[in-house]
Amino acid sequence: MAHEKTLLMVKPDGVKARLTGEVIRRVEMKGLHISAIKKFKFDRHLAEKFYAVHKSKPFFEDLVNFITSGEVVALVVEGEAAVSVVRRLIGPTNASEAPPGTIRGDFANSVQENVVHASDSLSSAEYEIGLLF
Ligand code: RTP
Ligand code: MG
Repeated sequence: MAHEKTLLMVKPDGVKARLTGEVIRRVEMKGLHISAIKKFKFDRHLAEKFYAVHKSKPFFEDLVNFITSGEVVALVVEGEAAVSVVRRLIGPTNASEAPPGTIRGDFANSVQENVVHASDSLSSAEYEIGLLF
């Protein structure tokens, strides 16, 4: 395992629910390091680039509408095996099926409004961090 960088982002539903502090707390308690943080609102152009991999999916339009609906907080998270460790901290995409103890399992109950985003590979982490920071 190696030192890695990943992108973790509190989505508009998470920011509105005042979960930013709780997300940061869980990352820090896991022993990971937050090396950059930024609060902003996506415009459509940036959202379409960020979610380019989902362009052909039936939920793409809904997803772009959702991610541009309010402010997000993006975090660069670093540490040993950071990509997979953060994915485990957030839990599966469908929050209704996410186990208790994960961020999605504890704070959401929807497949779309699932509180957080996290990069799913080293290459997507590089792409997403480059786009947002
Ligand atoms: P994320 O990219 O946000 O970390 O989530 P993920 O990898 O767990 O899920 P992904 O397959 O990349 O989907 C990206 C986001 O699109 C929304 N989604 N909606 N309506 C649907 O069936 C559906 N499927 C996915 C979710 O907001 C998901 O996090
Ligand atoms: Mg994804």
